[in-house]
Amino acid sequence: MNLQVKSFEEYQDVYNYSLSEPEKFWAEIAENFLWRKKWDQVLEWNFKEPQIKWFLGAKLNITENCIDRHLDTLGDKPAIIWEPNDPEEDHRILSYKQLHQKVCQFSHVLQNNGVKKGDRICIYMPMVPELAIAVLACARVGAIHSVVFGGFSAQSIADRIVDAECSLVITSDGGFRGNKETPMKSVIDDALVQCRSVKKVIVLTRSRTPVSMLKGRDVWWEDEVRKVETNGLTDFPAVEMDAEDMLFILYTSGSTGKPKGVVHTCGGYMVYTGYTFANVFQYQTGEVHFCTADIGWITGHSYIVYGPLSQGATALMFEGIPTWPDAGRLWNIVQKFKVNILYTAPTAIRSLMGYGDGPVAGKDLSSLTKLGSVGEPINEEAWHWFDDKIGHNKCPIVDTWWQTENGGLMISPIANVTPTKPGYATLPLPGVQPVLVDENGKEIEGNGVSGNLCIKFPWPGMLRTTYGDHERCRTTYFATYQNMYFTGDGCLRDEDGYYRITGRVDDVLNVSGHRIGTAEVENAINMHSDVVESAVVGYPHDIKGQGVYAFVVCPNMHGNDNLTRKDITMTVSRIIGPIAKPDKIQFVSGLPKTRSGKIMRRILRKIAEGDTENLGDTSTLLDPAVVEEIKAGAL
Ligand code: WT7
Repeated sequence: MNLQVKSFEEYQDVYNYSLSEPEKFWAEIAENFLWRKKWDQVLEWNFKEPQIKWFLGAKLNITENCIDRHLDTLGDKPAIIWEPNDPEEDHRILSYKQLHQKVCQFSHVLQNNGVKKGDRICIYMPMVPELAIAVLACARVGAIHSVVFGGFSAQSIADRIVDAECSLVITSDGGFRGNKETPMKSVIDDALVQCRSVKKVIVLTRSRTPVSMLKGRDVWWEDEVRKVETNGLTDFPAVEMDAEDMLFILYTSGSTGKPKGVVHTCGGYMVYTGYTFANVFQYQTGEVHFCTADIGWITGHSYIVYGPLSQGATALMFEGIPTWPDAGRLWNIVQKFKVNILYTAPTAIRSLMGYGDGPVAGKDLSSLTKLGSVGEPINEEAWHWFDDKIGHNKCPIVDTWWQTENGGLMISPIANVTPTKPGYATLPLPGVQPVLVDENGKEIEGNGVSGNLCIKFPWPGMLRTTYGDHERCRTTYFATYQNMYFTGDGCLRDEDGYYRITGRVDDVLNVSGHRIGTAEVENAINMHSDVVESAVVGYPHDIKGQGVYAFVVCPNMHGNDNLTRKDITMTVSRIIGPIAKPDKIQFVSGLPKTRSGKIMRRILRKIAEGDTENLGDTSTLLDPAVVEEIKAGAL
């Protein structure tokens, strides 16, 4: 079966086929990929344990799909275009041949540093081509990568390294983003104080900021590659993997506890990302695909690295941020590289919208043919601005709903195929079976309804487990409703059967498209020495979508309010990372609790939203006076 559908009628036919014959459907899709050995069985599953296996018995290495199979036909075509943070610095282009060479060399480097199939490797790097090379080299040698986004603290990195027992870390001296420089190696050094499993650190030169290099543990990327070059080694035969072998771990926040290591496997993830990339973006050979995400998030894994490369696409990678040196940066990049597909986030769109039309004026955006949005619900105003000012009303916008756990796009328009509607992720992709359920887990049928979004049949890109704790995977995703995967999102299905995601229904915040657990932020705040307890909720934020609002009980503070706020913010920064910093901190004498001691977050959410009139039922409150005080002091 062709990966791309070409009309809405064809989409409907393929969708119906995928419902009636899911295994045949996915087998036909999987035929489009390169396998060393094909599967004996397409699918084995139950959502009770859960146990999900796709393409059982198949053998492959995902990098042969992403690189080797293109060498004859696309060898000299650009695989990766890299635009540096500083527009004055030269950009870089890696052809498929060059990418192959670099990935093979670095695979040797990994092997020379003791890496074996199944080892876990932590990658903490800036958005430079070597990050993609490191990811692919891990996959080539059969090691499991765990990429940690550059905005996380040493403590967060340490937690992730310990959880996965990583044996090696790949990092760089420092990284640039806008006018900031992150001392990445130094952050790693702090993290490694707590990590006994790490035997080696490979350090790439990027900012050439001074770093400490420990004999026997730390080696330079460039030195290691030079050794391989001196030995004349160019190829590295990819290690054969089982379809269900782990490909990577990516940590993500939930409503309770520490972040979970979401596990994706080689075969299913490859098929799912390659398929959804080709179909949703209707990628045509030669087009330039620019996804503005960081490879530290799932969007970067799936739609900068694996999806595009498996389709022989040209992926543009940008080191910097959309507003530096000015708010015209993305448009300059589109113009410079004649970008065809621009895949970005509502938060970026809203922030750029705030600068008005000036930064867009005079920019040649005529190369654009398709636009995409991901990470959070896109508000209509942002949708229209994107459509008018960037797409000039001639580019379809694909509003793609999915999650780290899903591996790839789930509910989304197919570009130029599905009629779009602002604010709607529209319809499920072939092979995806969404259902809306009520609180009792009963499926809500028909249209013009809303409920909690679940998926009732497996798809190849879904998570298999949470690393080291399968029970947590079961309780988080498969225990709320029987025989269904629960997304944590609320959703509306309109009269046309179109899906609109309304946001999280659990205690998870979505700040600038990043998932943040309220419990995680509370734990970090509570670590501050003056804090007795705290409660964190989200509130509507013009640019970030949601902001972090913290109610903090701090009866004997060391400094004044403002100083203590800064200290608390610093504490959160140290424990989680700058991305989780509270936007507002309100000091309160107590939190609204029920007689059984549960914090009534519903009330705090209302107050944070500025909706103090409709607090709902407060009769179960232990101390109603505290609510009056909090209302009066709301920020
Ligand atoms: C959560 C997943 C994988 C995408 C990047 C974020 C929200 C994501 C949309 C969208 C409305 C969206 C959901 C989801 N979300 N895309 N198009 N419309 N909401 O990945 O960190 O795993 O977060 O992001 O709430 O559950 P993530």
